[in-house]
Amino acid sequence: MSEKNDETLANLLKEDRRFEPPADLTEHANLTADAYDAAAKDREGFWAEQAQRLTWAEPFTQVLDWTDPPFAKWYVGGRLNAAYNCVDRHVEAGRGDKVAIHFVGEPVGDTRSITYAELQDLVSQAANALTDMGVAAGDRVAIYMPMIPQAVVTMLACARIGAPHTVVFGGFSSDALASRLEDCQAKVVVTSDGGYRRGSASSLKPAVDEAREKAAGLGHTVEKVLVVRRTGQDVAWDDSVDVWWHDAVEGASTSHTPEAFDAEHPLYVMYTSGTTGKPKGILHTTGGYLVGASYTHWAVFDLKDDDVYWCTADIGWVTGHSYIVYGPLANGVTQVLYEGTPDSPERGRWWDIIEQYGVTLFYTAPTAIRSFMKQGREIPDARDLSSLRILGSVGEPINPEAYVWYRHVIGGDRTPVVDTWWQTETGAIMISPLPGVTAGKPGSAMNPIPGVSAEVVDEEGNAVPNGSGGYLVLTEPWPSMLRTIWGDDQRFKETYWSRFEKLGFYFAGDGAKKDADGDLWVLGRVDDVMNVSGHRLSTTEIESALVSHPKVAEAAVVGAKDEDTGQAVCAFVILRDEAGDGGDDIVAELRKHVRKEIGPIATPRQVMIVPELPKTRSGKIMRRLLRDVAENREVGDVTTLADSSVMDLISSGLTSGKGED
Ligand code: WT7
Repeated sequence: MSEKNDETLANLLKEDRRFEPPADLTEHANLTADAYDAAAKDREGFWAEQAQRLTWAEPFTQVLDWTDPPFAKWYVGGRLNAAYNCVDRHVEAGRGDKVAIHFVGEPVGDTRSITYAELQDLVSQAANALTDMGVAAGDRVAIYMPMIPQAVVTMLACARIGAPHTVVFGGFSSDALASRLEDCQAKVVVTSDGGYRRGSASSLKPAVDEAREKAAGLGHTVEKVLVVRRTGQDVAWDDSVDVWWHDAVEGASTSHTPEAFDAEHPLYVMYTSGTTGKPKGILHTTGGYLVGASYTHWAVFDLKDDDVYWCTADIGWVTGHSYIVYGPLANGVTQVLYEGTPDSPERGRWWDIIEQYGVTLFYTAPTAIRSFMKQGREIPDARDLSSLRILGSVGEPINPEAYVWYRHVIGGDRTPVVDTWWQTETGAIMISPLPGVTAGKPGSAMNPIPGVSAEVVDEEGNAVPNGSGGYLVLTEPWPSMLRTIWGDDQRFKETYWSRFEKLGFYFAGDGAKKDADGDLWVLGRVDDVMNVSGHRLSTTEIESALVSHPKVAEAAVVGAKDEDTGQAVCAFVILRDEAGDGGDDIVAELRKHVRKEIGPIATPRQVMIVPELPKTRSGKIMRRLLRDVAENREVGDVTTLADSSVMDLISSGLTSGKGED
């Protein structure tokens, strides 16, 4: 465990507040305490039962084939269509008039409610249009869009025709988009002219044009680009490639027969950061993933038919996939989809939306909660939030103060808070309280949900006793597990399964602690991966972006504690001799460079120009020491440094640059 984790541990140990589940919630809970025992006794039987939540065109003959670990096959022989399960079957069941999506655009008053019957028409049209553009089952489609209904429609249309989608977060740069287009060999890109953010129209199509060119430079040709007109901005147009959504989709037929695909047919690829520079394309398949997303959404949010659900994530991240699109829609929910930022046009926007739509279930990230805490409770207090009944948190550890504020100020002390631990790779929630069962502890994700087996282990893979910390592992396969890294089975094995290979454990990269009761406290990453505002960023990826700047010789990046974003990116940079002192604007220049290479989310909070980096005799950068500097601490033990005077050099010669945005 790192020093940071030890310190976190000490603070958490002082936490002894408990929140019992509300009696009426317990009485009508979807999942009761018995489920833990039932699942433990017959895990596969339990998952077979959960699979009955879906409609199968062909029933499965075997729950799990684990004969070739770590390559799992779930629901062997089963066939289904994910889009049919998320849309058509609700219409067939007579629920076509139920609202699926209350869309709220960022410009005030720009709203649209879409029923399941309407959604069926939209998805069918988009499926027909994509087919006409030459997309067939197995072809990859990239989606680079704002949070508008067409983004959800496109994901479902892809699923409907068996074309795996890869959604790239609209905040990523054209370089990041290009490398993903190339890696998964995307045939078509779906985008929009732009979207609304912070009160103005921001563009997307130009980045797609650039990315298409860059991908061509890497030897990959994108055949078509389908463009939604959202903002009406001027866009460059290439008639041989670009197609308007309103021409191709809105004119297409609303009838489309979904084809059933094998349970293991690829559903999507989601890129995420790892310890090395190249993002990993996490592959999820159809049957197991949909079972996992739908079951967890129903169980953890105790979903009822009249709930109004809202998850504030972006569809560019896995949370948007599992808990905006696939889980909630498979469950036939009514949900809010919001395009913009929490503070536009003013800081109470989210609370206005909750009041206006009577949101009952709300799912957001600790970083957002902390920013609201800072603004003060007057803003949410001025709205009626009494419709809320369960609050969820995801993306990073939620500190006890934020948890209690969330429950107290937003939830009026009525609402359980479910702190949900999971990852892009797990596809669905793994560790979380059950709102009708668990007495919540602020800061703890509590227990693996029924059907999931997690443990905290030492270096050898032995379970640690209560009261100790270690590595968080999943000890048994689960339906929504990643199947591989796109195009790289070897990296899949090495990254997740090699550390505890003999025991067959999946190692997630997080450290955790079991408290005296055996409840779990996730402490954060134990590797060189940062978590900024609930988003995973790799130190190496940012370092290679910095080193690609002509003035930079060497770079080291660490995540430093940050009050707002959990962790912030701090960069230490050695300039090339010919660059001299880099010039007055060097810090701004490097921050801008990272922004361009990866995207605003990766922009360093600080760039420190240093003469040397602290290295061990074998040449490994000692990030622990850099973290001390970045967090303004006394620098720790330097005895393993090759040159122990380096830290003095760094501390004395620091030209520290902080950013404005
Ligand atoms: C990493 C996964 C899960 C979807 C969003 C992020 C951290 C996530 C929690 C939580 C403590 C958490 C972990 C994990 N994390 N949720 N409730 N408590 N840490 O997905 O980008 O794949 O990141 O986020 O470090 O490994 P992701």
